[in-house]
Amino acid sequence: MSADTVRDEVRDKYAEAALAVSEGTQGSCGSGSCCGGEATGADFGSWLYEAEQRGELPETATLASLGCGNPTAVADLREGEVVLDLGSGGGIDVILSAKRVGPTGIAYGLDMTDEMLGLAQRNAREAGVRNAVFLRGVIEDVPLPANSVDVVISNCVINLSPDKPAVFAELARVLKPGGRIGISDVVAEDRLTPEERAERGSYVGCIAGALSKGEYEAAFEAAGFEDVSVEFTHEVADGIHGAIVKAGRPEGEIGEIPVTAASTGCC
Ligand SMILES: C[S@@+](CC[C@H](N)C(=O)[O-])C[C@H]1O[C@@H](n2cnc3c(N)ncnc32)[C@H](O)[C@@H]1O
Repeated sequence: MSADTVRDEVRDKYAEAALAVSEGTQGSCGSGSCCGGEATGADFGSWLYEAEQRGELPETATLASLGCGNPTAVADLREGEVVLDLGSGGGIDVILSAKRVGPTGIAYGLDMTDEMLGLAQRNAREAGVRNAVFLRGVIEDVPLPANSVDVVISNCVINLSPDKPAVFAELARVLKPGGRIGISDVVAEDRLTPEERAERGSYVGCIAGALSKGEYEAAFEAAGFEDVSVEFTHEVADGIHGAIVKAGRPEGEIGEIPVTAASTGCC
């Protein structure tokens, strides 16, 4: 399948999920799971957030939670910072981040699905958050200037990208020197080939497109990041895990980013 076909299929599934939530049902694509239906609601969704955090959110933001972790618990956000959430869905992590960085900070949510963007905007309004900004676009071509973001977060989205090298290059471009990454994603054990990953679940279900732990580490290192760590948190299929991924952009310029499909060993 071409990258455009994959993206269209992913967009259609998540548009359906957003509409289902807007109508008051939990994600039509697998009750609280990343769209695909193979995994159970226990592997994905709002249970991954503390009750206290869920209490800060409108019901439709928790219903729309399709992530595989809680990046706001991973990224140590500070007052006044600029945060970018890649694939912001119904806005759960953007709303929580906007509250953390306060009125002097800003939380951007980037998503390619209009229905998700509409839902996220309504949720942010209902949550009374004024420093959340939702951007339409793809994570492979982020509509923000270079060196403009302190922290990038993301929840179960990078596995859905058909062009992961472009995503790593964009992370390196938009982050300020010294900037940080705190991501939740689905990650495979290194023993699994791409074919074995695809046997365990679909692409839109956040399984088939998962990078392995070694591929994730190599991609960040090739993009010039330091302090890279990938930590498995819970298994969602045989050899496939929800994981916390962290990395930092060094102080100073990292120059030309030599990220290629070959250097990441993926896709
Ligand atoms: C599994 S959901 C996760 C949503 C949200 N992060 C959460 O935790 O609930 C994936 C989201 O990423 C968006 N998405 C997937 N691929 C994308 C891409 N290449 N560029 C921008 N958004 C993308 C989808 O539209 C969807 O809203």
